[in-house]
Amino acid sequence: MFNTSTIKRFQELETPFYYYDLGVLRQTLAACKEASSKYGFHVHYAMKANFNPKVLDMIQSFGFGADCVSGNEVKAAIEHGFGKENVVFAGVGKSDKEINLALDADIFCFNAESVQELFIINDLAKAKNKTAKIAIRINPNVDAHTHHYITTGLEENKFGINTFQLTDVADALRKCPNLQFLGIHFHIGSQITDMEVYKSLCLRINEIQDWFEDHGFGVKVLNTGGGLGVDYHHPDTNGVSDFESYFKVFNDFLKVKPGQEVHFELGRALVAQSAALISRVLYVKNGMKKNFLVLDAGMTELIRPMLYQAFHLIQNLSREPSHDMTQDFGLKTLDLKYDVVGPICESTDCFQKDVDLPQSFRGDLIAVRTAGAYGEVMASGYNLRDRVGSIYSE
Ligand code: LLP
Repeated sequence: MFNTSTIKRFQELETPFYYYDLGVLRQTLAACKEASSKYGFHVHYAMKANFNPKVLDMIQSFGFGADCVSGNEVKAAIEHGFGKENVVFAGVGKSDKEINLALDADIFCFNAESVQELFIINDLAKAKNKTAKIAIRINPNVDAHTHHYITTGLEENKFGINTFQLTDVADALRKCPNLQFLGIHFHIGSQITDMEVYKSLCLRINEIQDWFEDHGFGVKVLNTGGGLGVDYHHPDTNGVSDFESYFKVFNDFLKVKPGQEVHFELGRALVAQSAALISRVLYVKNGMKKNFLVLDAGMTELIRPMLYQAFHLIQNLSREPSHDMTQDFGLKTLDLKYDVVGPICESTDCFQKDVDLPQSFRGDLIAVRTAGAYGEVMASGYNLRDRVGSIYSE
């Protein structure tokens, strides 16, 4: 991701910023496209993972659809050329304004998350003399074996409709002439690396689609959501997620009937490895028990470590073997342990504790890797910080 000239370029720039390697992004998108096309699967990019305009444009150019969770995402998807016939709209709290916007845009499908929402979409569609296409987001109660903050498919989670409410769903659909039932939707969590989890999901989907067919509802769309994880520990040696195995599980275990379409909503796996957060060491503090590296980036630029105890690989780019002046003179670099922290006035503003790094100094460039998903888009202005910028590979 970083060669000598990239690091030289960074030295001229004000930090912090996100660095996007568009080559890595292109390679990842191509791998996903190839693996999904083999089975005729439809992939929608989950825009919430990253809506940086350059990133969106490249993803759109590969012919992916868009998975949106707000009216503004629906608008942005269409503005960036994602065809409206490939836009899906999920979310547990869609406002009337957002539903109206999506109705006006004639999107492919609403993923409805409650019985009450079905009636609201029906009323709003009726007022416009339109029919809204609907998939029912069902909570399959499958454990994603991921961090509980990013688990979404258990009965205790707020998302989707629980299976004990399916009769109410069927009644509602029968009472709503301005809804067209397309199929069923699932999303059980994020950063899932165990393929057995997806096998369990397939088996649940098979049971649930049978239920709908048995009750007189033809299921045209099976939308399995997203969640495929990435390797946060080895971004250089394992930079592309195993799309082959992922799609194969669905091909092997999902009961796809003639005329049915299988849809996916991948976010993280498409964009995570394509960016790093680049910052500088502001201060080195040597404590009694700890050494701290205080960076000029913190939770306002990348909140994942603080919010989900997420691991991101941290590298000192100024002390990489090819850039370390001390090495030129045959001096050995000293490895030390540091707590790598940000400048924000919160104790939780720590990227990672006890990181093994070469001895580091004020002004060194630090990369926090695998930051392309849920990084820049979750940045905030807390402490009245400047909005983090972004630069791209040449
Ligand atoms: N579909 C739905 C309905 C979703 O809610 C999500 C993510 C996705 C698809 C895409 O999931 P992915 O393929 O990216 O795992 N901010 C958290 C992740 C939150 C995920 C929210 N939903 C993080 O930084 O780990």
